[in-house]
Amino acid sequence: MKKSKWLFNFVITAMVLILPVAGFSEANVSEGARLGKTCAGCHGTSGNTPGKYIATIGGQNPDYMAKVLKEFSGGEREGSVEMSIIAKGYSDEQLESIALYYSSQGWVNSTNNTDSAKSKMGRQVAAENGCMDCHGARGEGLDEYPHIGGQNLGYLKEVLKRYRSGAIKSEEMGMVADLDDEQINALANYLSGLRQGE
Ligand code: HEC
Ligand code: HEC
Repeated sequence: MKKSKWLFNFVITAMVLILPVAGFSEANVSEGARLGKTCAGCHGTSGNTPGKYIATIGGQNPDYMAKVLKEFSGGEREGSVEMSIIAKGYSDEQLESIALYYSSQGWVNSTNNTDSAKSKMGRQVAAENGCMDCHGARGEGLDEYPHIGGQNLGYLKEVLKRYRSGAIKSEEMGMVADLDDEQINALANYLSGLRQGE
């Protein structure tokens, strides 16, 4: 009897401790889905952006996405007039919920055509610079490092050039300062054609 009473108390305590947390994170995702409806106009349904120049955000790393959105909102991240205006319309907490929602959607690979000779060169440039050490063997993203494999071709080229020019500041991405346009183009072709789970 004693043992079952202990078990009863344990279960009740566990429920009291766990339920609010579970409820909170669920509310976050659904709140994010509600608040994030406006994003779909540009980023596509579930964040799977068609076209070449806008980033796919469905299935992106949640920590990375929340950080980027807060930087857009705080004016610390250059590169997109649209995003700076849009992100300012939300509190940091709301941006975190939106990031959580989009990250919970499945990643859909880009359908942009890539050039095989350029991809081959890009693979070599990536190996020489240790790109996949941080971003994962198939560019699937690791820890706080963003998912880049299967991202849209035009976006990859543009964003790499922004790290190079210093418009987006990142110590980890410092090595792109030494790359020329041909190498960046090659990297974008290689990364855009990468597939997860193959
Ligand atoms: C008017 C079009 C438009 C709307 C609406 C829009 N975005 Fe964007 N977003 C862009 C463009 C364009 C870029 C690419 C910016 C660049 O080239 O740096 C971008 C970039 C981003 C990035 C950076 C991607 C990366 O991988 O670093 C994130 C994250 C993002 N948007 C999230 C959102 C969210 C969340 C919303 C809704 C709250 C939203 N966007 C609404 C146009 C839009
Ligand atoms: C030391 C770890 C590290 C290495 C090595 C590295 N990256 Fe990154 N990369 C990052 C981090 C961190 C970010 C996010 C920076 C930020 O806050 O904008 C990033 C961002 C990116 C982005 C932008 C993603 C997006 O959605 O906008 C691309 C593309 C990228 N890296 C490609 C590369 C390529 C190509 C190389 C090799 C030439 C490389 N990375 C090497 C850590 C790394």
